[in-house]
Amino acid sequence: MQKQFIQNGPSRLTKSHSSTFVKTAILTFLCFISISLTKAANSVIIPVETAHNTLLLQTDADNHLLMTYFGTKLADASEYKLISTQNNQKDVNAGIFNHAFTPAGTWNLVEPALSITHADGNISTELIYVSHKTEQVNDNVKILSILLADPVYKTEVTLYFKTYIKEDVVEQWSVIRNNEKGPLNMQKYASANLSFIAKDYYLTHFHGGWGREMKPEQTLLTHGIKTIDSKLGTRANLFEHPVFIMSFDKPAAEDEGKVLLGTLAWSGNFRMDFEVDAYHNLRLIAGINPFQSEYPLAEGTEFKTPSFIYTFSDKGTGEASRQLHRWARNYRLMDGNGSRLTLLNNWEATYFDFNQEKLVKLFADGKKLGVDLFLLDDGWFANKYPRNDDFAGLGDWEPNVKKLPDGISYLVKEAGKAGIKFGIWVEPEMVNPKSDLYEKHPDWVIRQTERPEHYFRNQLVLDLTNPEVQDYVFGIMDNLLGKNPEIGFIKWDCNSVIFNAQSAYLQKTKQKQSQLYVDYVHGLYKVLERVRAAYPVVPMMLCSGGGGRVDYEALKYFTEYWPSDNTNPLERVFIQWNYSYFYPAIASCNHITDWSKVGLKYRTDVAMMGKMGYDIVVSNLSENELKFSQQALKTYDSLKDLIWHGDLYRLASPDENPYASLMFVNENKTKAVVFNYVVTNRFDVTYSPTPIRLNGLDASKKYRIQEINLYPGTTTTLNASAVFSGDFLIRNGYNSEMNLLRTSVILEVTAQ
Ligand code: GLA
Repeated sequence: MQKQFIQNGPSRLTKSHSSTFVKTAILTFLCFISISLTKAANSVIIPVETAHNTLLLQTDADNHLLMTYFGTKLADASEYKLISTQNNQKDVNAGIFNHAFTPAGTWNLVEPALSITHADGNISTELIYVSHKTEQVNDNVKILSILLADPVYKTEVTLYFKTYIKEDVVEQWSVIRNNEKGPLNMQKYASANLSFIAKDYYLTHFHGGWGREMKPEQTLLTHGIKTIDSKLGTRANLFEHPVFIMSFDKPAAEDEGKVLLGTLAWSGNFRMDFEVDAYHNLRLIAGINPFQSEYPLAEGTEFKTPSFIYTFSDKGTGEASRQLHRWARNYRLMDGNGSRLTLLNNWEATYFDFNQEKLVKLFADGKKLGVDLFLLDDGWFANKYPRNDDFAGLGDWEPNVKKLPDGISYLVKEAGKAGIKFGIWVEPEMVNPKSDLYEKHPDWVIRQTERPEHYFRNQLVLDLTNPEVQDYVFGIMDNLLGKNPEIGFIKWDCNSVIFNAQSAYLQKTKQKQSQLYVDYVHGLYKVLERVRAAYPVVPMMLCSGGGGRVDYEALKYFTEYWPSDNTNPLERVFIQWNYSYFYPAIASCNHITDWSKVGLKYRTDVAMMGKMGYDIVVSNLSENELKFSQQALKTYDSLKDLIWHGDLYRLASPDENPYASLMFVNENKTKAVVFNYVVTNRFDVTYSPTPIRLNGLDASKKYRIQEINLYPGTTTTLNASAVFSGDFLIRNGYNSEMNLLRTSVILEVTAQ
């Protein structure tokens, strides 16, 4: 009967047939519902629950696994079984648009999560629910695994849902297993396939480029597919970041509304498809980008996809971000609940122009300033083709004897004598054609041997699919850290994308070239695993020509990331604000530089709302500037616990106001710090007309508010002795009196 319904579709009807058709259609529909309801009684219902939310999976009459609900948890779990009875989108196709892992080639005619060519050349896959089990990892973490299998081919897919209950975060991935006789090829192998039902869907995604990372763009999704992706290989997030905000029913708001924050934990090509289907449901498929990435799966082997990580809140983006931050600090970011080092970097201060005498003086400057560590940036290595600019030397990691005749150990020792730690920049995945490494090992370089080379920042990418190259890259780190265990910090850079993707190693080992993008990333993780096994505690900054590589898989190995080379503080207010939706402040490296002419106080205040550092010539500071900076570091010392480990409340967006305001609050809401920045020089802010509501405080407490981090010789216009109730500060708000003479105001809020 159902088949007939498809064959006799409306386009074939004549007028005289139409009433018969309508009757048949209604009968078919009712029949379908009654079959579904009878079978639904036996259907398997699998709730994926966190403290406040539920993702509901349920098998249908044909044992397809469907996603039937996503949102705030129901008070009574026994009503989960009623959910599917309330959804009448049940004709032959819509009934399975919400498949939990949509296969290609059989009944599905929408975007698939999985597309396979089987060992015999057949391109169809069906996935039927087989079983599921839950592993309780600890009080807060569970792993649910659901086995799906093709009834004809012996292909299996296991869907994993790792739930972090208190944080309301789900980490989802899939494992595809080939039990067939012979190898299969995967054209598409997503991590997750979710479905949502709402009135409308507003997607905010974040695009960018060098010096202009994380530019948000919100769009109402219309029918069809909106894709965000990367095909750059390395420095994969240069143009698009692997993060998004999905807002249901209406545009995203900070303090109310249903939002999902999502991100793919993968340091390579990603793709996320947002498909509003013919029934106005949203289908989301996220995973590795299938672009030129057909991947083989040998008989008896399996492939684990990267994790898709998401959190839902019905209280807006603010709450969703705090959930994700807590999760990141507790479970993902390396040393997420730990401490960080303030530092003085020499990149913008010297660029490539330094020698060991100059550096030793800079150590003393760093000490005088009061930072914990000196970070030596690019330009310290290579002899045959010295690294005096970015045209040469990358790949040759021995210290340049002219600049550093006594090597790195000498610098480490001298830094120690000056009372400061020593850190160093590396870019171990890359090579300049003008280098000894390139001359010796052209086959280690990703390039098309038959075509002209194409460079990004005058460099090429090493082939990390090759175990020898992995050894070489690990060796660079091992050599540095093994010989100099006192090294206190690593900045790991990655400046180039992959052009002319071709691997001599894959060629030699008779593997597919289409494995390159995926195996590169796996190779990188293998190296990072080895680095962390050998050097488990050294803090490392994830950098990629600015923020070209920031994701939650890499951040397992890194304590922090470099958001952007753009250190103009006005730009940074926006850039850091937008990263803050997804990443906690403790991971954001914010440096005070001379990139702009903006006053030192503003620059310092902006750097404070994360992990503060400097990249300036300390000896160029005036007496007042030095005094201010020394004091600012002490002030930062007293606030950093709050900024690094507290809860973030974004109070006023720079995209919507002539100013930005945000606040960090400790767990028991006894202490907060509020950062306020004017972001325009227009008339709007010649005076500060309205108060800003300090959401996040405790309404029942009393608070004193004091302006801090004042520049020498200036005084506050605020009344330092006034005490306000939390209720007043939340409902009415507080006016920090920002104006064009007070463009940056930091408030310390202390419960009385
Ligand atoms: C990249 C980084 C910078 C700096 C330079 C050095 O651009 O983002 O911070 O380290 O490389 O070449």
